[in-house]
Formats: sequence, structure tokens, C-alpha cells
Amino acid sequence: MTMVVVTESHGPKSDPCSHDAPLDGQKLVDQLQARVAVLEASNQSLAVEVASHQENEARLRLREEEQAQLQAQLVEAQKMEALGVLAGGVAHDFNNQLMIISSYAEFLSEALSSDDPLRREVETIQAAAKRSASITRQLLAFSRRQVVLPRRVDPIETLVNLERMLRRMLGANIQLELRQPQPQVQGPPPKVFVDPGQFEQVLINLAVNAKDAMPDGGRLVFDVDLDRVVESGPDQPGGHHVAIEVMDTGQGMDRATLSRIFEPFFTTKGEGRGTGLGLATAYGVIHQAKGRIHVDSKPGHGTCFTILLPWATPDMKDYADAPVADRTTLDGTETLLVVDDEPGIREIARRTLSRQGYTVLTAANAGEALLHAERYAGPIDLVLTDIIMPLMNGLELVRRLKHHRPAAQVILMTGFADHDLLRQALPQQPYPLMRKPFSPSELAAHVRATLDAEQHA
Ligand SMILES: Nc1ncnc2c1ncn2[C@@H]1O[C@H](COP(=O)(O)OP(=O)(O)OP(=O)(O)O)[C@@H](O)[C@H]1O
Ligand SMILES: [Mg+2]
Repeated sequence: MTMVVVTESHGPKSDPCSHDAPLDGQKLVDQLQARVAVLEASNQSLAVEVASHQENEARLRLREEEQAQLQAQLVEAQKMEALGVLAGGVAHDFNNQLMIISSYAEFLSEALSSDDPLRREVETIQAAAKRSASITRQLLAFSRRQVVLPRRVDPIETLVNLERMLRRMLGANIQLELRQPQPQVQGPPPKVFVDPGQFEQVLINLAVNAKDAMPDGGRLVFDVDLDRVVESGPDQPGGHHVAIEVMDTGQGMDRATLSRIFEPFFTTKGEGRGTGLGLATAYGVIHQAKGRIHVDSKPGHGTCFTILLPWATPDMKDYADAPVADRTTLDGTETLLVVDDEPGIREIARRTLSRQGYTVLTAANAGEALLHAERYAGPIDLVLTDIIMPLMNGLELVRRLKHHRPAAQVILMTGFADHDLLRQALPQQPYPLMRKPFSPSELAAHVRATLDAEQHA
């Protein structure tokens, strides 16, 4: 018996590896080519699929990073806001008290003869009050509760005006460079809407920090780009901005320092060298002007701060500061009404103004002031009122008081702006404003100047 093994029925017929199928060479090649083509096509679609997966993954990673960044920004903003509320509250009460301290020091010093040995002691009190007022001002600026008198400011002009002072401050071994922008903007140069004094303060603070970071000298560059278009932020408009980059070749900062530099009282400088308010102030001022401030730095590689401020628009109007008296005597015989809920401030105003010859009425709140307006027999020439008062604020009081006394002049005074509404309403007021703390002599001068301005009008 012969065994016949039939293998053909096993295994796929098309299997090119099958030795059982009698295939000719050409057929084999054809089959192989077909097979390779199928595989290539499927490889290609696989590659496309892998690429799109990778792309998706990259996109997902980017989105996760963006989200983490936004989260970090949010935490940072919340932290700064909480610190701001705290700082603003403290600074507000301080302003009134400081005004009382410095005013009474001024009264005392006026009462002393020029060779009185107590004079030096009074001067020390005055110097300390002045220094405290400056810390309070910076704290308020940081908390964005400072009363700002914004104006349309040309950033290049501001820098050019500061240049001499900055050079002197930086000293010979730090090179200062102001980079003027290319004339890339058509028409008049764009302006920013900011309190000019505060704006200068920010630029000076940045320069002082740069100097401290370059004890062996180096280079400080202010580079202005008049037109940088940015996207809108949580509390900031998008669109055209002025960008000011402040770059130094100093020691730079590590991550731990970078994460805290805008906090009030954060400083790495030794005892008595830094208060840690420079950048906190800058942060508050720039944010109050609806701008932003960023920093980029590495240890040993210098630091670059970028300030972005939105362009001023035509509807933004300059705020009028209190006029300055141009006469030697500040005396007067007019009748004044002083309104402030802080008895110490009322007393300072009464004392200062009545010794100049004025008749001074006082009121502790808007209700009392309106009673005077209704009942006082003579004319009331000028009303000097605090803005932040319980029950009715000074702006509302003035609006009502003007019904009874349309001819009365007005001076507003305030130490801080407690909420957005007031900050927005203030620059719309036609009345001069005095920022607390101010001295008795400043008060007398402003009152006289405001009354004189009316007579000349
Ligand atoms: N350009 C810079 N280069 C390196 N470090 C800097 C720079 N600017 C700021 N810093 C760091 O940030 C900290 C905070 O700065 P900030 O201006 O707020 O306070 P300060 O300079 O320490 O004190 P103050 O400004 O109140 O005198 C500094 O102590 C320093 O460590
Ligand atoms: Mg500083």
C-alpha cells in the first residue's frame, strides 16, 4: 500500500510559503507585489493615524499647560487682592492719623521760637510722619485704593524728562539707554491714561531695583514700543498698548524670589535697605491703569520687566488738580463749611482756616452739612468735604448742597478710594481734590487759590 498524503487541502492556497502549490515564478512575484502594496497602504494610513494621535496629544498637553498657567495666575491674583484689601484698610486709617500727627507738629513748630531747643524734636516727629505718609501712599498704591488723578501721559516724554535724574541716581558705572521707538505709529504719538506722579514712581522704582542688582555696574535699557496689540485679560482691555521693557544686566532672580516680588514687604535686601514696597507699588499702579506688568529673569542673566498700558482714548479726560495760590498772604474773610467724619481733621481745618480770618462752620456728616446749607443766614463761599463718609458720601452731599448754595465753591478731600465706583466717579468731578494727608499750610493755600480762581473766572 502506498500512502498518499494530500496536503493541498490544508493551509491557505494563497500562502506563498506553501511548497505544495506548484506556482510559477512570475505569479509569485505578482502576488508578493500585491501583498507589499496592501501593506504599504495600510502602513501609510497607520502613519497618518499615529501623527494625528501625536498632534492631539501635543494639543492636549498644551491645553493642560495653559490651564495650569491660568490657575496659577488666578491664585496669584487672589493672593494679591487679599493682601490689597488688608493693606488698603490699614493705610486708610493711617492717613487720617498721620494728618493729625503732622498737623499738630506743624502747629507746635510754629509756636516755637527759631532757637528753641525743642524745635529739633518737633522736626523729628515731622520727618517720621512724612516717612510714614510715604509708606502709606505706597501701600495704597499697591492696594489700588489710592486716589489717582489720571491724565493723558506721553510715555516717551515722561522717560526723557526723567533721564537726567535717573543718570544721576544710577551713577557712572551703570550705562543708561533709552530706546526711542521707530516711527511706526501714524499721527500723534499714543498716550497712556495714568497718574503722572505714580507713573514716574513706577519707572524710578524699577531703575532703583536695577541699580541694586548691579553693584559692580552694568547696563539698564528702557525700550518703548508704542504699539503692541495684546489680548484682553480678566480685568484688562485688549487692543493697542504701549509696551515699556526695562532690562538690566544684573544678578537676576531665582524662581522662589520671582514668585514673590510683587508682594508688599517682600524684600531680599538687608535690614534697613529695602522695604519691599517698590514692586508692590508698581503692580498696583499699573493694574489700576488697566495695564499689566510681567517679569522675566534668571540668576546671572539679568532681568526684564515689561509694562503694558492701554492707549488712552479720546473720552478719557484729564483731571484738574487743586489750583496753587499765587499770593503771599493766604488770609480771607469768606465763610467756609468743613465736612469730615474724623473730629481730628475737622479741628485741624477749623483751627488752620479760622486763624487766616475765615468764618469756619463744621459738620461731622452730610446731614449736618445740609442743615447748615439750609439754615445759615449768610453766604457759604466754599465747602471743603471729605469723600468717604458713612451714610452719604461727599460727592452726593455736594450734589444736594448745590441746590441750596449754587454759588458755593467746592474742594474735595480724601485719603483713599474704597471702591471701583468712586474711583471711576472721581475723575469726572469738576472740583479740585486734595489728597490726604496734607499739611495745614497746604490747606490754607488751596482754599485761598480756589476762592481766587472763582473771583477771576
Ligand atoms: N531688577 C532686579 N534684579 C534682581 N532682583 C530684583 C530686581 N527687582 C526686584 N528684585 C527683587 O525683588 C525684591 C522686591 O523688590 P521691591 O522693589 O518690591 O522691594 P525692595 O527693592 O527690596 O525694597 P524697596 O523698593 O521698598 O526699597 C527685591 O528685594 C529683589 O530681591
Ligand atoms: Mg525696590
